[in-house]
Amino acid sequence: MARERLIRENWGTRLGFILAAIGSAVGLGNIWRFPAVAYDNGGGAFLVPYLVALLTAGIPLLIMEFTIGRRFKGSAPVAFRRLNKNAEFIGWWQVAICIVIAAYYAVIIAWAAMYTYYSIGQTWGDSPDGFLFVDFLGAMNAEGEAVGTFDFGTWVPALTVVLAAIWVLTLLIIGAGVRKGIENTAKVFIPLLVVMFGVLVVQALTLDGATAGLDAFFTPDWSALQDSTVWVSAYGQIFFSLSVGFGIMVTYASYLKRKSDITTSAFTVGFANSSFELLAGIGVFSVLGYMALQAGTPIDEQVSDGVGLAFVAFPTIINTMPYAAGLFGVLFFASLVIAGFTSLVSIVQVPVAAVEDRFGVSRLAGTVFVGGGIALLSIVLFPATNGLWLLDTADGFINRYGIAVAALVSIVSVVWIAWKWAELRQDANRTSTIKVGYLWLGALGLVTPAILGWMLFDNIRATIDNEAGVDQNTLVYGWSVAGGALALGVLMALVLRRREVPALVDEEEVEGEAALTAGKEEIQ
Ligand code: ALA
Repeated sequence: MARERLIRENWGTRLGFILAAIGSAVGLGNIWRFPAVAYDNGGGAFLVPYLVALLTAGIPLLIMEFTIGRRFKGSAPVAFRRLNKNAEFIGWWQVAICIVIAAYYAVIIAWAAMYTYYSIGQTWGDSPDGFLFVDFLGAMNAEGEAVGTFDFGTWVPALTVVLAAIWVLTLLIIGAGVRKGIENTAKVFIPLLVVMFGVLVVQALTLDGATAGLDAFFTPDWSALQDSTVWVSAYGQIFFSLSVGFGIMVTYASYLKRKSDITTSAFTVGFANSSFELLAGIGVFSVLGYMALQAGTPIDEQVSDGVGLAFVAFPTIINTMPYAAGLFGVLFFASLVIAGFTSLVSIVQVPVAAVEDRFGVSRLAGTVFVGGGIALLSIVLFPATNGLWLLDTADGFINRYGIAVAALVSIVSVVWIAWKWAELRQDANRTSTIKVGYLWLGALGLVTPAILGWMLFDNIRATIDNEAGVDQNTLVYGWSVAGGALALGVLMALVLRRREVPALVDEEEVEGEAALTAGKEEIQ
């Protein structure tokens, strides 16, 4: 019996694609990570490198990924395989990176969902710090001692249930398909997010001390530009935040119709993402200004890291808010949930679509077996008392030695080894209003690899320098996660080397064929 042809979907509208891509880009990285990274790097010192990183690396790479996706019409492994037979491993490597990220990313959304509820009555009480680590996560005992890092299997019941619910929703959306599931979700959630977050920022700006916070955020510190760590952080932030380097944008663009504009969409998504990020910076720094005023201490002594910022500093601030404290908390944590959720969907779509496209299985089977498998991994590992440590370590290593290195390898392979830049440039320009030229090539082929190469070197140096102070388990686990992702990529590509990619037929092509047949019939 002839095998039924697998027909790949297309986005319903251009706006739908752009909203879905913005939904992927705007995530925990914008609300949670960006303000913390900006804060860590001296606030105002960060903005210049950040904007340079957006223009010289983020958008050029986004254009490359959009073009690869649309031209080669497949999820990451298929698209890279069609680009060059030896490049398939890059796609599988990115699939593995997405599996790791999805597994821990979902649990942060679950924390935020629970904190949305806790905000109403400020359940965290007078000591948000103690509440988070002892009562909520169980990561420490009442004496303040951390639980053993390898103490697996002591789950936090409520968190586990909420996490499972998040996974069910995610898989339902992915199972509903690109147009009905992902596109429709983005069309509802992105406007909702913008409204909710807008109200939150307005409320933050009315707080006493907000101006001092904004000064800290917007006053440039030119001397910090000589500090390479600030640059490394800025480029790292852009990759994570724009969802480039881990196969998402290749996958999303593979559902584009052949005549869609590439470059305008890339600029729109890039600027929308950074605008949201700056908005988050304005909101968070206003609140930090308020907090500093209340505590009578300088702004740079308020927070330690991203987890501390969202789940300790914000509850502390909510406790002292002069009005509508519960509303402020609900808006903040619900924004985290929504922003994170649309990103989680995009991250999980990468492995699901990869297996569907490469093995020719149905969407349902892909969603249940691949998506369900990742959900299981996430639920078994992360809502447990050692979940915070697992998450922190996986996040650190997969960012430094996963996303950034995969991005470097993909650019060098595509531009320099496979020498595909001219073909891609021509393909992007064919249908785009904004044409890209040598400026794009210079940014993509020279600036970005140089910075990524430096980042890799700098990160390895920092990891080795800090090694003495880091627990052995953390190092073994962190390197296994990052190395394992690459190993899986190479292994999958080797196993599949002789297996041809199934013919994937687009809805667009099917419609074209149907029109052709109808035309022929009319002629006859
Ligand atoms: N781009 C997503 C974020 O910023 C992954 O969280």
